[in-house]
Amino acid sequence: MNLHIGVIRGDGIGPEIVTEAVKVLNKVGEIFGHTCQYEELLLGGASIDVHGVPLTDETIEKAKTCDAVLMGSIGGDAKTSPWYRLEPSKRPEAGLLAIRKALNLFANLRPAVLYEELKEACPLKEEITEGGFDLMIMRELTGGLYFGERRTEEVDGVMTAYDSLTYNENEIRRIAKRAFEIAMKRRKHVTSVDKANVLDSSRLWRKVVEEVAEEYPEVTLTHMLVDNCAMQLVKDPKQFDVVLTENMFGDILSDEASMVTGSIGMLASASLNETKFGLYEPSGGSAPDIAGLGIANPIATILSAAMLLRYSFDLDQEADAVEAAVSRTLKDGYRTGDIMSEGKTKVNTKEMGDLICERICRK
Ligand code: IPM
Ligand code: MG
Repeated sequence: MNLHIGVIRGDGIGPEIVTEAVKVLNKVGEIFGHTCQYEELLLGGASIDVHGVPLTDETIEKAKTCDAVLMGSIGGDAKTSPWYRLEPSKRPEAGLLAIRKALNLFANLRPAVLYEELKEACPLKEEITEGGFDLMIMRELTGGLYFGERRTEEVDGVMTAYDSLTYNENEIRRIAKRAFEIAMKRRKHVTSVDKANVLDSSRLWRKVVEEVAEEYPEVTLTHMLVDNCAMQLVKDPKQFDVVLTENMFGDILSDEASMVTGSIGMLASASLNETKFGLYEPSGGSAPDIAGLGIANPIATILSAAMLLRYSFDLDQEADAVEAAVSRTLKDGYRTGDIMSEGKTKVNTKEMGDLICERICRK
């Protein structure tokens, strides 16, 4: 198979972690007989440096010709980077939001899995994590507060800012359907997270999710308020299978979920539209504080590449091989600094990529 993949190296640690994920994809190609053809795309700060804007039409058009896009991370240090002296709509993050919208990537899948080998890196008590956990956050990605009208103005001499949270029933229905479909392939449980005791958008969310649930009688649906969900994630993460939620809640809960797995450096993500196309990126940020040092954890990006193989190309065996190689590498005791614990072997970004590549094999 020929895999036509767009590559956004991005900012901060982005280029370093993407290099390792590309290495992994090439290794998969070698072993399973695929060719990977890459298209370099600019987004975020890297695009501002060249074009003065975080996203160009050229990047969007080029991305549309690819089967999938692999991305590092974008953004810099808001205090020191010149990108943050630009107005908000021209900063790196605006480019990320705009590409999500332009490619209609409404379904963001963020799996949070506690690897047996990383139990020591998990901040929760052992009795809570016993047996591990494996949950999938389904975050709506092109609506809600992120894309509502916003403005800042003076009202009666007082500076006042507005951000509006809007969802229509179609936006809710399509993400809910995705969540139920994914639950059907997992443990058949959807927890829909909202703030229906306060927000109208959440009350509509709950009503539409209930309608969709009727089409999936095998799946159990639970509603949970977002504040309670934040608590339950640290109290009893095992109770969750698929967590379905709107954009802003999903942003917050996915960072929390990543931390209970030990490190945000472990959390992959896929952003999908109605087709097979997807944008795959680690859930973590660009970590400008460690950029260029070669010590970042590339595993989230490598696991994102595995999701790319699975969701955009239906290459399940290949995706399994990558995930197995990651587990094997951890089992063999190798750790980057963020997940390091006593008695393990500390490696850098490139070494971690090489070790994972060496362990990729056909079953
Ligand atoms: C994420 C990030 C982005 C988001 C930022 C960089 C705009 O935090 O992908 O979770 O809030 O969606
Ligand atoms: Mg986030």
